[in-house]
Parts: sequence; structure tokens; C-alpha cells
Amino acid sequence: MSKLIDLDKPSLWYALAAILFNPTFWNIVARQEYHNKILTKLAGGNPYKGCYGLAITIFSLGIFRDYLYSHALGEQPVHPLLQTDLVKLIAIGLFVAGNTLVLSSMYALGVTGTYLGDYFGILMDHRVTGFPFNVSNNPMYQGSTMVFLASALWYGTPAGIILTAIVYCAYNVALRFEEPFTAMIYSKRK
Ligand SMILES: *[C@@H]1O[C@H](CO)[C@@H](O)[C@H](O)[C@H]1NC(C)=O
Repeated sequence: MSKLIDLDKPSLWYALAAILFNPTFWNIVARQEYHNKILTKLAGGNPYKGCYGLAITIFSLGIFRDYLYSHALGEQPVHPLLQTDLVKLIAIGLFVAGNTLVLSSMYALGVTGTYLGDYFGILMDHRVTGFPFNVSNNPMYQGSTMVFLASALWYGTPAGIILTAIVYCAYNVALRFEEPFTAMIYSKRK
């Protein structure tokens, strides 16, 4: 029997590390910003510049993580059950739907709304309730998870499905930290 997943490939562990590191990083940094204003101070006292700096950092870390993930999948065994046209079609559908959720929520929230602006004291005037927030509670995370699954299916690798499950768990843990914190920040708004 061929292996479902090749644990001997370092690329698999680099991808896993990046998947776990990114949400941990932005939660720790954003809370440091909220409590100690470290990024605002680094940006010369301008919270908008601090938030844009964090946005660029998180975005770049995301690109790097996606690269590590693709590279890892390229080195993993494929499974014949995942190498059908139907699976490829589902992958394309997930890729389009997932990116639609991610890009439309970025568009609806703007840079500071997407990248933790509330931790900098940059609050949204109104809760955004239009698309994609009327079809998904967390379009950014749900869309991103769908894109991970899309790649896993496109490559046909069971390892990709396992990494996607870990992404799903990591985002859910992140939400348990972020949702109450955001609610607390908005409840203190004067
Ligand atoms: C969500 O909102 C968009 C427009 O903002 C609308 O076209 C769409 O039908 C809505 N979807 C649901 C499920 O309410």
C-alpha cells in the first residue's frame, strides 16, 4: 500500500508551522498594540500607519504560508480517489467561492477593518451586514479555509486535506480569542 501522507518531507512541517504561526502572531501582536500601542509608537504615533504596517506584514506572511503549503503539497503522495475530474471541478468551485468570500470581505471592510484596526482604536462606524456577511459569519476565515481545501483537492493529496483540517481548527481557535476581544473593544466605544 502506498503512503497516504509522507511525514519525512520537511516541507510538510514547514507548512504546518506557518499555518499555526500566522494567527498566533497576529493575535499576540494585535493585543500588544491594544494594551501597549507598540505598533502605533513604532509608526511615530500614527495608528493608521501602524495598522497598514501590520496589514502588509500579515499579508506577506500569508503569501509565504501559501507558498510553503503549495510546495508541501507538491511533494506529497496523491491518492487515486482524489484524481478524478469531479474532484478537480469541486476544487475549482471551492477556489472561486473561497476567493470571492475573502476578496469581497476585504472590499467591504477596507484595510483597517480587515487587518485588526479595532486593536488600534480604528473602529468601523457601522457593523457591515451586506455581502459576504449575509452568507457567512466569518467570510475571511471560511473563504481562506475553502481555498486551502481547493488546493488539496486540486493536487489530490490526503496530506492537503489534513493540513486544511488543521487550518480550520487554527482559525476556530483564533476566533475564540478575537470575537470576544472585538466585542469588548466595541462595547467600550464612547
Ligand atoms: C446578500 O446580499 C447581497 C447584496 O448585498 C444579495 O444580492 C444577496 O441575495 C444576499 N444573500 C442572502 C443569502 O441574503
